[in-house]
This record gives sequence, structure tokens and C-alpha cells, in this order.
Amino acid sequence: MKNIDSRTHVRGESVYLDDIPLIQGTLFGVAFGSPMAHGVIRNLNVADAEAMPGVVRVLTHKDVTGENQIGGIIPDEPLFADHHVHYVGMPIAFVVAETDDDARAAVKKITVDIEPLRVITDPREAQALGELIIPPKHFRLGDTSTAWAQCMHIFEGCADTNGQEHLYIETQGAYAIPQENNGIKLYSSTQGPTAVQRAVSRSSGLPMHQIEVDVIRLGGGFGGKEDQANMWAALVAVAAHVLKKPVKYSLHRMEDMAMTGKRHPYSSDFKIGLDNDLKIIAYEATFYQNAGAAADLSPAVLERTLFHCTNSYYVPNVSATAYSCRTHLPPNTAFRGFGGPQGMFVIEAAIAKAAESLRIDASVIQEKNLIQTGDEFPFGQKAESEAPACWHKTTELYELNAIRERIATFNNENRLSKKGLALMPVCFGISFTNTRMNQARALVHLYTDGSVNVSTGAVEMGQGVNTKMLQVAAQVLSIRSERVKLLTTSTYRIASTSPSAASATADLNGRAVQLACDELVKRLKTVAAGELQTDVEAITLKDEWVYVNDQKTDWDWERLLMAAFSKRVSLSEHAHYATPGIHFDPIAAKGHPFAYHVYGTAIVETTVDCLRGIYEINNIKVVHDFGVSMNTAIDRGQIEGGIVQGLGWMTMEEVIFDKTGRLRSNALSTYKVPDIYSVPDEIAIEALKTEQDNLAIFRSKAVGEPPLMYGIGAYFALRNAILAFNPTARIPFDAPMTPEKVLLALYDGRTSFSTNDQTASYVAVNS
Ligand code: MTE
Ligand code: HPA
Ligand code: MOS
Repeated sequence: MKNIDSRTHVRGESVYLDDIPLIQGTLFGVAFGSPMAHGVIRNLNVADAEAMPGVVRVLTHKDVTGENQIGGIIPDEPLFADHHVHYVGMPIAFVVAETDDDARAAVKKITVDIEPLRVITDPREAQALGELIIPPKHFRLGDTSTAWAQCMHIFEGCADTNGQEHLYIETQGAYAIPQENNGIKLYSSTQGPTAVQRAVSRSSGLPMHQIEVDVIRLGGGFGGKEDQANMWAALVAVAAHVLKKPVKYSLHRMEDMAMTGKRHPYSSDFKIGLDNDLKIIAYEATFYQNAGAAADLSPAVLERTLFHCTNSYYVPNVSATAYSCRTHLPPNTAFRGFGGPQGMFVIEAAIAKAAESLRIDASVIQEKNLIQTGDEFPFGQKAESEAPACWHKTTELYELNAIRERIATFNNENRLSKKGLALMPVCFGISFTNTRMNQARALVHLYTDGSVNVSTGAVEMGQGVNTKMLQVAAQVLSIRSERVKLLTTSTYRIASTSPSAASATADLNGRAVQLACDELVKRLKTVAAGELQTDVEAITLKDEWVYVNDQKTDWDWERLLMAAFSKRVSLSEHAHYATPGIHFDPIAAKGHPFAYHVYGTAIVETTVDCLRGIYEINNIKVVHDFGVSMNTAIDRGQIEGGIVQGLGWMTMEEVIFDKTGRLRSNALSTYKVPDIYSVPDEIAIEALKTEQDNLAIFRSKAVGEPPLMYGIGAYFALRNAILAFNPTARIPFDAPMTPEKVLLALYDGRTSFSTNDQTASYVAVNS
């Protein structure tokens, strides 16, 4: 089935926050963010701004009618800075004016005196000073301290990954409309409608039932709107509540880039030990997460780094420690993979270091250590592993040996152009690691004309979840998909939603839709049995017709609904789903946190221009564990998008803060994301067909985040290409591998270089 939004997307008719028709009298807000990363506010002057044309009011912490606090996991994040500022861009005031232009002009008139304090941007420095968001977390399996003695080879090193800007096409924003008797209706570009409802309730002082959060769809979230939509919603809601007028704020791109958190940069240490047979016997890692100035989701992200610190491998002795380090940067937040990619990069770096030192290909170590069914993850869950199956199907289907030969020939024949190859296995756990978040609800209304409305807690952000929800309803009810309409995500129709995140949205909400529709079908069958004077067991509903003992009757869907209505049978159902069988004890760091894992393997091939350091990712060939995909077009789109986003993180996207905590890569002119020219010419995706039952909706495994991690292969492919040119290059494990870093590595240790080489053949690569 086609994505139900494809037609309106292409025609420009899909409605986003900024397309909602304005209510008369709507005012526009713009936040004034701190110009300094760390300090004490001595004096704030908003009078000049308030005197500007069109300005209605400049709000500060003094105007907050509830609590000046939006921290979710830890209450450490004020809505408005009151005394201290902790990062550049931290909201200090909120200008509300008659037009967006008026508000923006007035913001420039605000002045603030801040007494500067020491600015920390480096997580290791923060850790050394004891600046931690939460106490360190540890995951352990076996006993590394005794295991080193069994190791033939031991390697140690550091591995760093940088942050990543979400760059959702639709920037953050919210629109609050006061309702009678103090209620507030909010449109918000959020992945977490209930999180927004809670934040607005807390900051306005109104109970949650007074606050409706309605989400039509997002122009992308990628984790950036799981928690960080709360700020803008709380600002407009407090303003609307105080001024009794609708207030809207839609951030400009540069504001969004400067004021919102990103993927967490990590700096990590590793130690890996292998036996004679290249089995990994022991692995130790210490992760320093750059959390930014407040907790946000950092503790949960930190934990997922530990959950994925051994990626697709079985390691019998593991000791992993993770620090969430408080720095003076905007609070970093969820980003596709949620800390998992950062954890996986480090073990891949450890394996690469071992392989480079032993002068073997990393894939030899990777393959030997793939996790098998029954092996234990460091957090206690036993694997039901597709890792070997994906790996072997990848190497056979894409003829890895032939690719290697072709690359070897190429590298022999070309002096100034080198190819590199890497394999990247991925193993990603599906479920919120916080068990209680794994629940969802759905509300289904059948109308007497045969049409159906479905509401769930799922937020459509381009990942196609609404299409999947529609498919579930149509299939369970056995009706044409045109009869089903997916409604917006409203906290008044569906309460206590978990954010649409953790790749689990379709599983959780889809199961709830399935339960609701199952119940309605049961009810309708009873009605049909009564009308047709037969047993319920004899009735089936198929393709909009009632069958008795597989014989088609003259009762169709619409007639059946009318009959049910006439008999005063409810045609509405609200259902609740909670993932069964999962649990996790965060203190012991043991349990069975995931409903299942998604597996896959990618082969990444790259070509480096050894004169200029620029490169091309030529192709990515994947075998991916879909379970049984319920929508191959959407799932393919998720894989392609995830891969390109992963490539961007690993190769070109460079978040740069200076030592004063100011974001230098604050626009698309200074922050490079993949464009169509950076997309590999070939992205081959083959399914690993697995028939086993699983907890996914219709056995169609979650697909949102796992493919991003195939992109990690690009980093190691580039490394291998560099080493083909300069085998003695010392290359730090420091992603992204930008062309500048490639160039430095190509010529590391070389004092002169002659281009006057008769055998040189130059292959132009994409610039
Ligand atoms: N795809 C699109 N087009 N837009 C998005 O914002 N977010 C990703 C992924 N794919 C995203 C996306 C992230 S971070 C997650 S967790 C999942 O989609 C969330 O949706 P799901 O749970 O339905 O997979
Ligand atoms: N994944 C994504 N988002 C989350 C999670 C998780 O495990 N936990 C809380 N928010
Ligand atoms: Mo995705 S990072 O779980 O929103």
C-alpha cells in the first residue's frame, strides 16, 4: 500500500503546524536566548523591547503561572533562566507581539548583563570535575579482570563520535489557543503529545485535563522532538494563558539550530582482548557522554549506549561504564539510534584496531564473534539471533569475495585513487528501555455508513506509521482501506501516550488498533449470528461480506453496521496494549528489556581521491531482518533514509562549538548534510525472511532506527581506503571522517610526495 500521505505531500497540501489557519487575534512569540554559555544574570533590560511597535508583552520567569521547570527525567531545566544561564541560547525572555516580524525586531532590543563563569564544553573535563547528570551506569557480564589472562592479544584505544543536528525540515514550533474556562488547545510539532501536555500543565499550573495537545503530523522529528518540543509549547502556552490570546511560535532555522540539543557527542576508551582463535574474550569500555547543560533524555540515551556496547557480538566478559557529563551546551537529546550508534562505533573501532594491528581484515574478527541464539547480552537477555544469517546471506548474495578481488585489482591499478570496504553488522533492541513506556492505546469508531475513524497515540513524522495503522484496521476489519481514516494525535482522544520513538510506534499502537478492531469484529459477528440465526463460530467477515460456514450471505459490511446500531450495540472501541514479557532492573542492570532485536549486515564500498581527500560512498549492500514487512515501500524508505542519515553522521556532519560554547556550525552554509550527490549510487536492500513469531505488529519488525547504524560502515571503509594508500597512517578513531581528516591521514608521516608517477592513473570522484 502506498503511503497515505504521498498525494498531499507531493501536491503541497499536507498540513503542518505552519499551515494551520490562524485564529483572529493570534500573537507571535520569539524567545530571547542567552548570549553566554555560563554565568549569573546581573541585569536584564526588556523595557526597550517592550516599547517596540506591535509588542504586547515580554515575559520572563516572573510571569510563569505554574512551575518554572520543564525537566522530564530530572527537574533541572528551567523554562526561563532566572538567575543562572547554562548554555548559549537558553531562553531568558519571550517577546510576544502582533506579528512575527515585530517580535523578532523587538528581541534584538533586549540586553542582559551576565557575569561569566567557567565554560566547559568537553565531557572528560566535566567528568574530572565531578559534573555528572546522574551517577555513572555500569553493565557487566562475566569477569573482565580475570579474563585478560586468557587473551593472546589485547588492544586499547580511544574512540570519539561527534554530535549531529536533526535537521528536520519542519523546525520546532507550537501554537496555543485559549479555550473557555481556562483551557488551552495546543498544536505542537512534537513526537510526544503527552510530554507536551505534562510540560504545559506544569508550567501553566493548569491540570492536564485542561490541556489538549493535537498533532497533525511532523515534517520530521528524528528524536529531536521527543522531548525538546516541550520548551516552545510551554512558552506559547504560558503566554496564551497570561494574555488570554492565541500565541504561536515557529522557530527560524538558525534559532532552531542554536537553541536545541543534538545527538550526544561521546568520547570513549576501549580495551579488547582476543584469544588465539580471534574470539573476543573480554571487552571494557568507558563512555563519556556530552549531555549538555541539563538532563533532558541523556540518562536514557546513556543506558542505550550500554545496551548496544557489544553491537552484534557475543563477548563473555564485558565491563562497560558510562558517564553522563554536564557541559555548557544546549541539552543534547534523542536522535535516531538513541545512544546505540555511539556504543556500536566504539566496539567497531576496537575490532578495527585489533585487525589493523594483526594485519587481518576486520571482517574476520567480526564474523567469528557474531552473537548466536542463546548467547547472553551483557544485560542478561538471551539472543534470538539472526546475526549469522544476515552476515552469511550478505556475503553470499553480494559475492563478497568477488567484490574484494575487484577492489584489490582497482587498488593495484590506481595510485591516486583507492577503494575501501567494510562490513557493518547491526543488532538493535526494540522497546523503550524504560519498561513502563511500552504501552499504547487506540480508539476506533465505526460509522453507520461503513466508514471508520482510527485514533492512536502514534505521531506521523514521515516514517509512515499512519499508513501502517490504517493497514492494521483495514486488515482486521477486512474492509477496503479507503473506508478508514487516521485522525490526528490528540491527548483528548488518546491519553498517556508514550512518545513516538524507540522505533516501537507501529508495534505498540498497531497492537492496540488490532485489539480494538478484534473486539469490534467479535461484536459484529455476534450481531450477524443473531440476524442469520446461526452460531457465532460459523460467521466470518471477509472483504466486506458476512460468510456463514464459508458461504457468502447477502449481508455486507454496511448492512451489518446498521443492524448493530439498531440493536444498540456499541460501534466504538478503545483498546490498551502493553508489551508482554519485558522487564529490566536498572539497579542490577539485568533483565529482558527488549521485545526482540532487529538484525542486519551491510557492505559499504568507498573510493577516496588520494590527492584531495575527497571521496564517494559508492554503494551499500544490505541484508536486513524485516521479519515479514507489512509495507515494503515504507520500510525500504526507512532503510534508505536511515542509511543516508548515518552516512552523514559518520562522514560529513560536523557540529562545532567554540570554547565559549557558541555554535559555529549554525546554518546550512557551515553544517553540511548529505544531499542527493552524497547518496551512494547503489543502495541494495534484501530481506532476510524470518518466519518465527515475534512481538512486532503482523510480525513486521520495527525499522525506524536500526538502518542508521549501517552508515557506521562508511567510516571504516574510508579508513581502509586510506590505509590502502598509506599503510602506516595513524588515524585516530574520530568521526566524522571529513575530507580534511582523510587528507591529513593520507599524508600522515609523509614528508614528500611525488605525483610524477608513471603508473598513476587518476580517477575523478565526485566533488
Ligand atoms: N523517518 C522519518 N521520515 N522522519 C522521522 O522523523 N524518525 C526516526 C525513524 N524514522 C523519523 C523517521 C526515529 S528517531 C524513530 S524512533 C522512528 O522513526 C519513530 O517511528 P517508528 O517508531 O514508527 O519507527
Ligand atoms: N528509545 C527512544 N526513546 C526513548 C527511550 C528509548 O529507549 N526511552 C525513553 N525515550
Ligand atoms: Mo527516535 S531517537 O527514538 O525518536
